[in-house]
Amino acid sequence: MRAKDIRAKAGEEPITMLTAYDAPTARIVDAAGVDMILVGDSVGNTQLGYDSTLPVTVDEMASHTAAVVRATEDALVIADMPFLSFGGDEGDAIDNCGRMLKEAGADAIKLECGPHTVDLTRTLTQLGVPVQAHLGLTPQRENETGLFRQGTDEESARRILDLAREHESAGAFSLVLEHVPANLAGAVTDALSIPTIGIGAGPDCDGQVLVIDDVIGLSERTAPFSRTFGDVRAEMERAVDGYVDAVESGEFPGEEHSHVEPEIEDVY
Ligand code: KIV
Repeated sequence: MRAKDIRAKAGEEPITMLTAYDAPTARIVDAAGVDMILVGDSVGNTQLGYDSTLPVTVDEMASHTAAVVRATEDALVIADMPFLSFGGDEGDAIDNCGRMLKEAGADAIKLECGPHTVDLTRTLTQLGVPVQAHLGLTPQRENETGLFRQGTDEESARRILDLAREHESAGAFSLVLEHVPANLAGAVTDALSIPTIGIGAGPDCDGQVLVIDDVIGLSERTAPFSRTFGDVRAEMERAVDGYVDAVESGEFPGEEHSHVEPEIEDVY
């Protein structure tokens, strides 16, 4: 899958996107036919034990992205650019984004956007780095905005629509809309020709994205707009409890898990 294939899906069949941060998960997500795998900076909360996405580094993103790329055959793999890896010096931003394609093998990068990312989106696109824009709730701004629904009044809704148009004109191949009113997401989707991918943005986007830990039931907490489709946490707890009980009771390892070597019978 390439960015141009995703672009062509706008207004056609619903587009699926899920996060993944490691090879085994990416293999399952890819085999399920998901169109795009986002190596989200949510890796900070889901995998790395941080309280937010802010501490995630470019090295961490490159490492997780490379693991996902190694396990993915069909889906478009997108590396999320972490806090302050872009938005300052343009040369540094290009180096950081370029690493995700050159070193980690990603197909595209995602930027949490604002007025400061329009020119960068244009430059990256011209250089051959496909950009997925992200508007609405952008968690890297949590110290400024909190983690609340965005675009809830006329002025901020208009700002999101204008920025969406500017990023489309700058060359973004798709747009994530996070935690915005469904009617705003519908209006943005109607106004753009690139696909919109919603998370907490209602049913009128061209596609949907969720965090894999929420989907499989591994998260301790989930956002109200998310949905859990499995109970992996309970299954992991069952397996780990079973292991502990089996070792403590002496039931594991059994004969079938052990090898007795006759040649060393006289060693003692
Ligand atoms: O980091 C992430 O997982 C994201 C999605 C929620 C879109 O940015």
